[in-house]
Amino acid sequence: MLPPSESRFLPVDGQRIYVRTFGGRYADRTLLCVHGGPGATHDYLLPLADLARARYRVVFYDALGCGRSDLPRGTRRYTLEHDLEVLDAVRRSLRVERVHLMGSSYGGMLALAYASRHSDRLRSLNSTGGLCDVPFANREQWRLVGRLPPELQATIRRLGARGEYHHPEYEAAALVFYRRHVCRLWPWPEELTSSLTRISRPVYETMNGPNEFTIVGNIKDVDFSDRLGQIRVPTLLIHGRYDEVTPAVGARIHRRIPGSRLEIFPRSSHVSFWEERPAYLRTVAGFLRDAERSSRR
Ligand code: ALA
Repeated sequence: MLPPSESRFLPVDGQRIYVRTFGGRYADRTLLCVHGGPGATHDYLLPLADLARARYRVVFYDALGCGRSDLPRGTRRYTLEHDLEVLDAVRRSLRVERVHLMGSSYGGMLALAYASRHSDRLRSLNSTGGLCDVPFANREQWRLVGRLPPELQATIRRLGARGEYHHPEYEAAALVFYRRHVCRLWPWPEELTSSLTRISRPVYETMNGPNEFTIVGNIKDVDFSDRLGQIRVPTLLIHGRYDEVTPAVGARIHRRIPGSRLEIFPRSSHVSFWEERPAYLRTVAGFLRDAERSSRR
């Protein structure tokens, strides 16, 4: 069962952002969690709310255009830059000098980008299945597509070439990829299913594309690898062995962030906080504890 939470709406640039807080009384130890998609909702990250029991204030929000946050008219705000502004507005609203920042997937990308600019506002950084070089991460996804049964690969290529991404055969083939490389539990946890079935199409299609491995949206060329060296906080990088954002992506990030730690979860793909929940939470709780000790020194 989830610990009790409080919800509020934060105005950012004339739009309301839905913010949900667990463990509100532990404000001096705040963990801010950023979801991916881009376009999903915070719900699939809820296993991290358990950290409220370890006396963290754990804060989630739905990005602009997602979940319970406002859906603005038009798509011009669906950019990495605007998402960074929203992240910063949520962080400021928490009224603490520095937060622990966690992001999953595209949320990990935001967290990495934020940390590379504003390490001074953070106590630590956790990127779970995050990325910073979209072209490389996408080439890795296609390497995984290349390991699907040949008939499924043929379907993906044939229907994909015609743009028929929502053809039932294409979707059935994509689902095999998702069950291998997004979440290996079956059935999927309800929170993950609801986060992904309610994914904001305007956000996902503008920023990502029609599906996970067809990245044709406005993040397709993003690569800020050369800025990772600016990250100056304790950093934990978590990838699943079968992650669609592959361990090779994690290893590249790890090499560029001084003193960072890379953990590969052996039975996980993209959502180790579900696939290996107790081990994930133990690892993160230990990391947060160490980060707090080192920041007090
Ligand atoms: N599209 C993936 C995510 O952000 C990488 O969840």
